Amino acid sequence: MLNRKIQKFVKQTLKNIAPEGTSFLATIIYSYIIKKSDYYTKYLKMIAKSNEIKQINGTILDVGSGPAYLPIYIAKSNPNCKIICVDASLSMVLIAKQNVSKAKLTEFIKLKKGKVYNLNFPNKFFDFVISTSSLHYWKNPVKAFNEIYRVLKDGHEAWIFDVYKPIPPQQFFPVYDKYRRLVVSIFNLYNSRDSFYNTQKINKIIQQSHFKRSYIENFKIFYKIVLQKA
Ligand SMILES: C[S@@+](CC[C@H](N)C(=O)[O-])C[C@H]1O[C@@H](n2cnc3c(N)ncnc32)[C@H](O)[C@@H]1O
Repeated sequence: MLNRKIQKFVKQTLKNIAPEGTSFLATIIYSYIIKKSDYYTKYLKMIAKSNEIKQINGTILDVGSGPAYLPIYIAKSNPNCKIICVDASLSMVLIAKQNVSKAKLTEFIKLKKGKVYNLNFPNKFFDFVISTSSLHYWKNPVKAFNEIYRVLKDGHEAWIFDVYKPIPPQQFFPVYDKYRRLVVSIFNLYNSRDSFYNTQKINKIIQQSHFKRSYIENFKIFYKIVLQKA
C-alpha cells in the first residue's frame, strides 16, 4: 500500500517537472520504434482510412503529431485536405519534416513547433482536429481542450485518441527478444513519467472544458474521445 503511494507520488512528481515535449533521445527512440514496428502504425492507418476523415475537404490540425506518420497516411488517402501539425518537441518536428519530405507531401502537410495550449491560429480555423497518444503528456488537459475548442469551426469535431495504458514492450519494440533487458529499462523509464487516463477522469476533464457534447468509444488499442463543437 505504502509502496503504491510512493510510486504514485514519484510518477506525479516526475510528470510535473518533466518538460512536455519529447526529449531529443526519446524522439530518436520513438521514431525508430514506430518505423520498425507495424503494431502501432496499422492502427494509425485505420484511423486515417476512416470514412469521416476521408471525406474532409479543408484543414486538419494534428496536435502532438510526433514523427507525422498519421498525417502522412491521412494525406495519402485524402488529397482534398491540408494538415497542420503542431508538436512541442523541436527534434520531433525536425524528424517529421524529413518524413514528410521523403513522402513527397510537403505541399499538403505543414509542421510547426508549439504547445497545445497556445495554438497560433485564429478562432474557428480548423475543419477537424486530431491527436494520437499525446493527451497523457498534457499537464493541463482542460486548457488544452479549450484551446482546441477555440480553433475548431462550429459544428465540427475533434478526435482525441490515447492508448489505455502503455503498450507492452514485446508488441512495440521489434528488437525485444535481442535486447530484452535494455528494452524493459527504457520502457520503465518512459512509464515512470506518464499517466494514462481512465474513462472517469476523461469525463471529468470534458465536463470542465467548453465542450458540451462528447462521447468516448473504444478503438482497438485506443480510447477515442469525440468532442463536438455546437
Ligand atoms: C507518444 S508521441 C505521439 C506522436 C504521434 N501522435 C503518434 O501517434 O505517433 C506524443 C507527442 O506529443 C508531443 N507533445 C507532448 N505534450 C505536448 C503539448 N503540450 N503540446 C503539443 N505536443 C505535445 C510530444 O512531443 C510527442 O511528439
